[in-house]
Amino acid sequence: MTDKCIINFDHHTPQYRDDWDVKAQERASKCPVAWSEAHGGYWILSSHEDVKRAAGDPDSFSSAHNSPEKPWSKGILIPELPYTLALSESDPPIHPARRLIEAPFFAPMAVRQLADVAKRHVEEAITRIIDRGELDFAYDFAMRVAAKTTMELVGIDPERWEEFMLSAHKASLLPSDHPDYPIEEIRQVQTKMRELLTERKANPRKDILSALATKKALGEPLTMDVQVGMLSAAIFGGFGTVMSATLSVLLWLENNRELYTQLLEDDALLDRLIEETLRLNPPNHGTARTVARDMELNGQQLKQGDRVLLSWAAANRDPAVFECPAEVRLDRPNGKEHFSFGGGEHRCLGAPLARVEIRQMVRAVITHMPDYKIDRERLRYYPSFANTAGISSMPATFTPKSSER
Ligand code: HEM
Repeated sequence: MTDKCIINFDHHTPQYRDDWDVKAQERASKCPVAWSEAHGGYWILSSHEDVKRAAGDPDSFSSAHNSPEKPWSKGILIPELPYTLALSESDPPIHPARRLIEAPFFAPMAVRQLADVAKRHVEEAITRIIDRGELDFAYDFAMRVAAKTTMELVGIDPERWEEFMLSAHKASLLPSDHPDYPIEEIRQVQTKMRELLTERKANPRKDILSALATKKALGEPLTMDVQVGMLSAAIFGGFGTVMSATLSVLLWLENNRELYTQLLEDDALLDRLIEETLRLNPPNHGTARTVARDMELNGQQLKQGDRVLLSWAAANRDPAVFECPAEVRLDRPNGKEHFSFGGGEHRCLGAPLARVEIRQMVRAVITHMPDYKIDRERLRYYPSFANTAGISSMPATFTPKSSER
């Protein structure tokens, strides 16, 4: 056993946001299981090997939250959320049973249909802005496309996207114990979700709302709270993240325009660029678990009830797995081994859809605004990288074209 490796670490601080990349790489090799005193104390796992192990071992690292059988369970965020994300914050056997209800909507055939939905929203967004010559790639483009596609996926009128998404966007900028955390706005959105779920129970259609309202997990119908929790994850999980990933690709591409032709001709190359950007700039830097049994990990003693942050961001830059981890390498043989979509049983359900959306948005920008110029002075990042990380606003100009195409 070695001494506790205590570090000065708080993933909610601006300091973390500003130097996480340098520190992450250091931790992965020097202090892979570290302890921070912030937020009541938590472990930080930073090596690829430990993060993979913890994500794949729900018996030892629990995602549960407010579970009567696991009174110590605190869910996937540090500090814990004031409500429960019923899918993400559950363990087997109920987790796979709940996941099965939503999984068909993310199966390959369903994603092919959603690709058409995303394409329509990309074209609409381009038509709105193409004759302006300026835009915010976040609000005018990526947030809009991702949010509207998600709304159609769950079965809500896409024109209502701001009503449902903007409070979640605000929430993703703050820790849940911050005085300005928009809990009231989120509760109002959840009331609207309850109304929609009740209506869909009476008149089911082929959408996620109806599946949640009518299907059973382990033989029991889902309670209304569970339905709302699962719906919240599907709605809130899939737009800030997709937006952040898309903007990271566009930021890098502005200085690598010589690749345009190749990227338009070769989907595989575009996919490698997207994976490499996700590895380097994960829109979600890490989620938490609660230790379910006393154990030793990498020489550190973890006790039941301890909180643990699985740092996807650090694991993605582990030099033991990724050669020259801070470099963009489009020919990286193991480029897909990143954790930006998590790992294990809770691996992101929306990953195939996210990839399709990002690919379509990047292709559209290269095609319709090839000379876009980002106003780097006005580029804004999320104030904290704890919930959603990356760019939150990216104003740019380009040569306008007539929208009558
Ligand atoms: C680039 C975009 C995205 C990123 C980086 C991302 C990231 C993640 C991560 C890291 C997890 C695992 C959390 C954990 O293990 O505790 C996750 C889970 C999840 N994501 Fe995503 N996500 C993205 C897009 C989406 C989209 C588009 C949707 C749906 C519209 C979605 C829905 C979900 C759901 C439902 C889960 C919970 C899965 C489970 O617990 O079984 N995500 N996501």
